[in-house]
Amino acid sequence: LLRRALTSQFIIPEFQKFTSKIDDIYWECKSIHSGKVATYIPQLSRYSPDYWAVSICTIDGQRHSIGDFNVPFCLQSGAKPLAYAMAVNELGSDLVHQYVGQEPSGQAFNSLVLDANNKPHNPMINAGALAVTSLLKNDLLLSDRFEYFNVQAKRLGGQEEVGFHNPTFLSERATADRNRAIGWFMKENKCFPEGINLEETLDFYFQCCSVEVTCMSASVIAASIANGGICPTTGDKVLSAESVRNTLSLMYSCGMYDYSGQFAFKVGLPAKSGVSGCVLLIIPNVMGVCLWSPPLDHLGNSVRAVNFCERLVAKFNFHNY
Ligand code: DON
Repeated sequence: LLRRALTSQFIIPEFQKFTSKIDDIYWECKSIHSGKVATYIPQLSRYSPDYWAVSICTIDGQRHSIGDFNVPFCLQSGAKPLAYAMAVNELGSDLVHQYVGQEPSGQAFNSLVLDANNKPHNPMINAGALAVTSLLKNDLLLSDRFEYFNVQAKRLGGQEEVGFHNPTFLSERATADRNRAIGWFMKENKCFPEGINLEETLDFYFQCCSVEVTCMSASVIAASIANGGICPTTGDKVLSAESVRNTLSLMYSCGMYDYSGQFAFKVGLPAKSGVSGCVLLIIPNVMGVCLWSPPLDHLGNSVRAVNFCERLVAKFNFHNY
């Protein structure tokens, strides 16, 4: 890091100039007051609609944060790309995709629908994430499976704040009629490996959704994905190149709920949103970004975060095309 600093060989050489523009966009988005905080569980409904944070971590470890970047929140669906990446890393792409497809579903994230092969459409919707969690370390006890997920997520986050919010887990589990219905529907359609315990798979999925991060630690997770699976702050190689490439492709096409097509068109970058108001945004080989603000639009994406992404690519040529 020091050698690069002295010779100005950073991926973003004029980092201060860059981050002052990031701050400008942050303040522009701060004045947006539309959107509604999720209310389906009390833990989410208690988030202040004013929370707004942006954190950046480049692939060579330059950092910048603004706003409420130290306030903890749950990953929710932000855990889906992580679980998928870990599954491909462990089991390989072929095996994982025997159980889940690669197509956008064109349906809500929690819809009860399978593709023509009786598989969930992709790993970024609930059905696909259940297929993925049913595969991940399924020879271990649930306790060890969750510990594995948490340890891997913490490695991706450079050993920064990656914890677990038990109240969220308990609430998710207590209000999970839809997810349980999806699970049983999938079981009937033989979407899971033989002999898996469905209730345990559901619990594991809710536990992954309840992993708690801060905007700052999540930006390191995003940066590890931007950096081909190697954490930029620790040098720890957590994920294979194959798993990262797959994950980025699916985040690009399926990561932003039913806004994914428009997001790919307008922003042109892989991203994943969660109902807590987070967005993990990846600029491959440059940096990872976490955006967090709880008010959501009618599709379930954070209003300020989506607006930030659109303004970001208007200012900088990060759009893939
Ligand atoms: O499974 C659920 O309904 C939520 N815990 C998932 C949260 C979420 O962010 C929605 N996702 N795609």
